[in-house]
Formats: sequence, C-alpha cells, structure tokens
Amino acid sequence: MTTQELVPGLAGIPAAESSISYIDGAVGILEYRGHPIEILSEESNFEETCWLLLRGALPTRAELDGLRAELRSRRSLNDDVLGLLRALPRGGHPMNALQVALAGLGMTSPKVDAADEASSWEACLQMIAITPVLIATFERLRRGDDYLAPDPELDTAANFLWMLNGEKPSAIAERTLDCCLVLHAEHTMNASTFAARVVASTEADPYSVCSSAVGALYGPLHGGANERVLQQLEAIGGKENVQAWFQGQMADRGKVMGFGHRVYKTKDPRATTLQRLVRELFAEHGSTPLYDTALCLEQEVLEHLGEKGIHPNVDFFSGIVYQKLGIPTDVFTPIFAMARVSGWLAHWREQMSDNRIFRPGQIYTGEHEAAWVPIDDRG
Ligand code: CMC
Repeated sequence: MTTQELVPGLAGIPAAESSISYIDGAVGILEYRGHPIEILSEESNFEETCWLLLRGALPTRAELDGLRAELRSRRSLNDDVLGLLRALPRGGHPMNALQVALAGLGMTSPKVDAADEASSWEACLQMIAITPVLIATFERLRRGDDYLAPDPELDTAANFLWMLNGEKPSAIAERTLDCCLVLHAEHTMNASTFAARVVASTEADPYSVCSSAVGALYGPLHGGANERVLQQLEAIGGKENVQAWFQGQMADRGKVMGFGHRVYKTKDPRATTLQRLVRELFAEHGSTPLYDTALCLEQEVLEHLGEKGIHPNVDFFSGIVYQKLGIPTDVFTPIFAMARVSGWLAHWREQMSDNRIFRPGQIYTGEHEAAWVPIDDRG
C-alpha cells in the first residue's frame, strides 16, 4: 500500500498494538485478555471484568473484594456535579448529558498523572464508579424525581437499577444487567475506542478521553443503534409486517438497525448471549411481541443479506432485554457507555504506556493557488 491509497473508514488498518481484546470476525470469537466472552458472561461479573481489562489478568478474591469496596465508596456525587446535572435541559438526550457530566467530573477532580499508577488507577476507579450514578441521576431528575443516594451494599448493576427505580432489583434483573455490562465492556478498535485513543494521545485527561468517546458512541451506526432497534421493531408493528417492511427498506436502500458489522461476518457472539438472556428473562417475567418480530426480522435479513455477511450484532437483542428491565429507550446507549468506560480506560492506559500523538495523513482534493478576490468584488 502506498501512502496515497485511501481506505474509507480505515477498514482493516491497524491503529495500535493492543493486548486488551481480540476478535475473529470470520468465526465469531471475542476475547478479553484471552478469555472467551462466552466464559466471562457465564462465570464473571462486571467488576471482575473491569479488573481484567485494566490490570491485564484475573483478580484474586482479595483483589476483587477490594475493587468492589473501592467502587462502592466512590459513588457519591459532589455538589458541583449534582448541580450541573440539575441545570441540564431535561428534554436533551442522556448521552449528551453524560458527555457534559463526565467533563464536569473532570473539572472537579484532582489532576491526573498518567505516568503515576496510583493517580491513573484512582481516575479509573472514580469514572467506573460514577458513570452509572450520572446516568441514573440525570434520568431521575428529568422525570421529576430527586437524586437518590447510592446503596453501599450493592455492586454496579444492582446499584444502577436501585438508583433508577428506587427499589432493589430482583436477582435475575441484577444478574441480567451485570451480564450485559460484561458483554459491552470492550471491543477492540471500534469508533469510540479509536476516538478515546486519539484524545488520549494528545495527553488530555481521562475525563476528556471518556467524554469524547461517549460522543462517538452516541451515533446510530455505533452504540446508538440499540435505541434505534427498538424503535424499528415498534415501527414494524408485528411479525406479520416484517416481510413488507424489509422489502420497503431494501427498496429505499435503507439499513436494518442491529445488523451488520465491520469485523463480524457471522453472528456476533454477544448477540447469541443476549438472546439467551432474553429467554431467561421471559421465563420469569413473560414474553413480549417485539421478540417475535425480532426473530422474524432476523430470518428475513439472513435470507436476503446473509451471504453478504450481514448478521445480528450486539445491539439487536440488547434493547429487548433493557425494555424488559423497565429501562427507558434513550437510556440504552448510556448503559452501553457505562460498561464501555472500562474498555476506554484500559485503552487510555495502554496508549499512555507508549504514546505517540495520532496524526494521520489525508489525500488533498482541493485546489491550489486560488485567486484572491476582494470581498466587495465577490458575486
Ligand atoms: N442493513 C442493510 N444493509 C447493510 C447493513 C444493514 N444493517 N449493514 C451493512 N449493509 C450493507 C451495506 O448497504 C453495503 O452494501 P453494498 O455493498 O451493496 O453497498 C454492505 O452491506 C457493506 O456495508 P457497510 O455499511 O459499508 O459496512 P461497514 O463495515 O462500513 O459498516 C456498520 C458497519 C455496523 C456501520 C453497518 O453494518 C451498519 O450501518 N449497521 C446498522 C447499524 C448498527 O446496527 N450498528 C451497530 C454496530 S455493532 C455495535 C457497535 O458498534 O456499537
């Protein structure tokens, strides 16, 4: 490849060396630090996964207990950040609120020295602990409820549901959300992680790194797809309409949200696990017609687009899970963010361990030596 060849979307171009996660998109393998996602989603939990991603190996029991305690002790919002959340427009999207709130958290936190392990670790703990609190608190405030203090007895998933709903979640709700957090924690060099690494490479603080990554995740081609999937299933209106809807979409050259992936050319392994979670939740809480629509849509897409390698991705079933947990649709993508903060921070640490500022080239397509026309002579 010469430097003059453009690869749109940098498809397949390595942007970094990384030992954090691995994907084989041809066969549907995803590993965090060498551990298959199927095992982590069955055996692990979000806190343990955070340690694995950030420290590079599974924690001992004492290390995990210590991490849980550290996270539980860092969930209080300071008055400035709470005031900031109170001042945000209630009609705005929670991803915008999260972006602002993470930047605000940075403004009220001690300066971070990435080269100092204690300082770097402290920033990671604070952001992993506080991000769910920011999301739950903005949700409460915008619907007219007041701030609810975190429960120091609960881990990340259960405390998030507690703060959102004001009641302790059932065991299956806690376990389901916890598993979703594990599934969404990390995913190699996707758009938001690349954004995080670019910002990290400028030596900006990790709050700016995560805030920027939240902006990248918000888009409907990336994390924002989970919200769009549910809207799409609702718009289809029932499994009997799937065929006609799909044909219309193809005629308009529209995309089917929740399908396709730059790397996976088979079913995303996270979608397979989420489908298992859906079935477990339904066994306890009853089914939803949206799931039947989703299954028909999957069949229809596979029949017509399967040979192009277009299969369900992580966002296809996650919305059905979150809806069953009683979570509002526009909080789906923030939940993705609250998990992915751990992955972004692992990439921040890796980038800072051997940093060079990102400064790619471009292929200039404009003109040269353009004629200067005085402003009053321009047509
Ligand atoms: N529905 C219909 N056609 C599709 C879809 C889809 N969801 N995805 C890809 N295609 C077609 C696309 O039209 C193109 O066809 P052709 O070659 O005839 O022009 C071909 O497949 C290649 O698509 P692409 O958009 O060039 O592929 P990409 O690697 O640039 O984009 C993607 C990957 C995920 C952005 C894309 O598949 C997409 O837009 N999917 C829908 C949005 C979505 O579900 N996003 C979540 C992604 S996974 C989680 C995450 O990243 O957050």
